[in-house]
Amino acid sequence: MRVLALTSGGDAPGMNMVLAYLFVKFKFKLYVARAGFRGLINNDITKITDFEPLKNAKKAGSCIKCSRCSAFATEEGFAKGLENAKRFDIIVVLGGNGSYRGCQQLAESGVRTIFIPATIDNDVANNDYSLGYHTAVDACENTINNTMPSIDAMDRCVIFEVMGRHCPRIASCVYHKSQADYLITSKKDINYPKIVEIVKNKHEIGQASSIILQENIIKMQTIVKNINKLYPELEVCTVKIGHVQRGSAPTSIELEFAKGFARKAIEAITKKDKSYAILYRQNKFVLEEFKEENK
Ligand code: F6P
Repeated sequence: MRVLALTSGGDAPGMNMVLAYLFVKFKFKLYVARAGFRGLINNDITKITDFEPLKNAKKAGSCIKCSRCSAFATEEGFAKGLENAKRFDIIVVLGGNGSYRGCQQLAESGVRTIFIPATIDNDVANNDYSLGYHTAVDACENTINNTMPSIDAMDRCVIFEVMGRHCPRIASCVYHKSQADYLITSKKDINYPKIVEIVKNKHEIGQASSIILQENIIKMQTIVKNINKLYPELEVCTVKIGHVQRGSAPTSIELEFAKGFARKAIEAITKKDKSYAILYRQNKFVLEEFKEENK
């Protein structure tokens, strides 16, 4: 059986563990497309010839590289990718929503595919868990824990901007876990008098305060300016948590999720004959069949 794996979109901690499982199962019959759908389009496809996936199993990133490939959404790009995909018995894609759609399109064109949700944003539809989310939240918590003592010592307020693209899950979870003072996940949440009341109350009793901001809502400096208009005495710092959310080593819980997704994917590849998304719902890994209407 010729199995082709690719990791698409932004990298997510846990991807390498899934690749290691695929390698253990299919050994040197496993092929990989370098940098996601871009490798599929450009025929940048190689057979695994060493133990690279095993060496990297517990590391973040992807040992076969990732990319965001808008060309795959074009007619020409898709046609090239499809031609190369047809040389394999099954294509395993790890990625987020865009990758899900790519998989579905391949399945509809008659190529057997398996999709595994892997995006720190945890925003794949009808799915409770995507690889990378736990590590991303954990990385935010670590950054916050290692920042707050300094904020506290200097009697300041701090705004932490977290990733998530347009999904509030990382921000909400980090807000609750870090017991922050204010959460902004939409423009509607921005109420400066309320923010100032909260941070002022804390400042007046000698306590630091923190605000969790989801990215793509508002610039952190705009919040700082508006707080200072109402409360000039307070020093407000900004921390963009950034790619440590993707680059941190997968947590032990992440690695267990990766193993669960990989086992279910291998079961679907070897025991079934259709195309599936491997999803996690109500504490279980489940198979959702891709419809092949246009086959
Ligand atoms: O989709 C994952 C993600 O990390 C988002 O949370 C973020 O908006 C985006 O990717 C950042 O992408 P890049 O690394 O390409 O800047």
